[in-house]
Amino acid sequence: MASPASSSVGHRRRVLMFPLPFQGHITPMLQLAGALHARGGGGRLDITVFHAAFNAPPDQARHPPGYRFVAVGEGVPSGDLVPSGSDADFAGALLRINDRLREPFRDRLRQLLAEEEDGGAAACLVVDSNLRGMQLVAEELGVPTLVLRTGGAACLVAYMAFPALCDKGLLPPASQDKAQSEMPLDELTPLRLRDMVFSPITTHANMKRCLEHLLDAARCSSGVILNTFQELENSDLQKITDGLGVPIYTIGPLHKISSGTESSLLAQDQTCLKWLDKQEADSVLYVSLGSLASMDEKEMLETAWGLANSQRPFLWVIRHNMVKSSQQVSLPEGFEEATRGRGMVVPWAPQLEVLGHRAIGGFWTHNGWNSTLESICEGVPMICRPQFADQMINMRYVEEVWKIGFELEGELERGKIEMAITKLLCMEEGRQMRQRAKDLRDKAVKCTEEKGSSKSAIELLLKRIMSF
Ligand code: UDX
Repeated sequence: MASPASSSVGHRRRVLMFPLPFQGHITPMLQLAGALHARGGGGRLDITVFHAAFNAPPDQARHPPGYRFVAVGEGVPSGDLVPSGSDADFAGALLRINDRLREPFRDRLRQLLAEEEDGGAAACLVVDSNLRGMQLVAEELGVPTLVLRTGGAACLVAYMAFPALCDKGLLPPASQDKAQSEMPLDELTPLRLRDMVFSPITTHANMKRCLEHLLDAARCSSGVILNTFQELENSDLQKITDGLGVPIYTIGPLHKISSGTESSLLAQDQTCLKWLDKQEADSVLYVSLGSLASMDEKEMLETAWGLANSQRPFLWVIRHNMVKSSQQVSLPEGFEEATRGRGMVVPWAPQLEVLGHRAIGGFWTHNGWNSTLESICEGVPMICRPQFADQMINMRYVEEVWKIGFELEGELERGKIEMAITKLLCMEEGRQMRQRAKDLRDKAVKCTEEKGSSKSAIELLLKRIMSF
């Protein structure tokens, strides 16, 4: 078993955690750990993070006393466990992760529960909503569970409606029937049938199984923790409370509740912050597709020239594996010259600081939930280019409900990109979106203040944990 980051003191309570091994899930789980650890009523709550041996949380030794990290599944083949891009079988990967990590987790958990040095005081396991397999192990060994849902409330409501849409024969949509896939879902406004499809590659059977597991995990838990806030998703949160029948703890935005938790799997290039310091307020477009989404070489080329031709300053994150089937990402000839002094390209950015920088005027995003929420919390409007999983659902809310961005739809083409950038950064429509985003940012700030909705929910969550 991995050695503790520091020894535990006396007979503290201990919260066990198991994040899904992807950036967008590790980060909120560690932020939750930070929030619980810091508020544990005078340091009574220690944290044990179980994690897949691949994509292990970084800088484990840097966590404060009371943290411990336990790797699960060393030697388990992981090549087919990390999906990438819109053509990835995300649901298939989730099913395989649960299958392969379940037995090794049982061994680790059994071992930990038997250890006297741990104080025998594991209060509960907080498990990612996609890890039903790990939750079953905890149930079997008598450990109560809470589920962390890292996505938005709207997405969970859509997933709760999934079985009924299957029963009605609406899902899966007939593959060639474009009209059917554009069909609005009255009970899930503003979603359309096509927003309910994970990715073109994921089979309906895999998606159905994944969502069954996710909903079972939520319903069989002692409570569901959500990284969103009341003032943003009030009516969907009510539907979740009514529909799941377990306590709901709405404690987001977690990165504002628990700041400074280092969890980036890739090294962040800090030099871009200095570059941003030199730019005018609200002038720069930040472009990033998160940790898994990708584009093909043609899309990359069109994006490069769209950015160049827009004549606006930009900060573009080009991840090492962002371009499909290409080992090395190269920018088109003439691009650097055309954008000198006006653009910066980095392999990975300190996104929270970037979005909070006064120079950022807009965010071209894939609408992963963390990126969407982080953008909202800094009052930054969005150009949306969703690819898979919950991203289409998040985009629909950005565009239709909160009206703080718009979709860049269809084939990527430089002229279209240029127009979208101009609309967001230079036109009245974009200015109004920015204003609405700033209004939401103010609401996010309020909910994390004393007596704010998320602050109060964390206190309730702590009480619940201490009662186990
Ligand atoms: C994945 C799925 O793609 C997404 O649909 C789901 O909602 C969460 O899991 P990911 O693709 O990683 O997420 O996107 P996102 O949820 O936005 O998380 C990315 C995280 O990486 C954010 O917290 C962001 O701040 C961080 N990031 C991104 C950086 O630190 N630097 C970067 O350059 C880009």
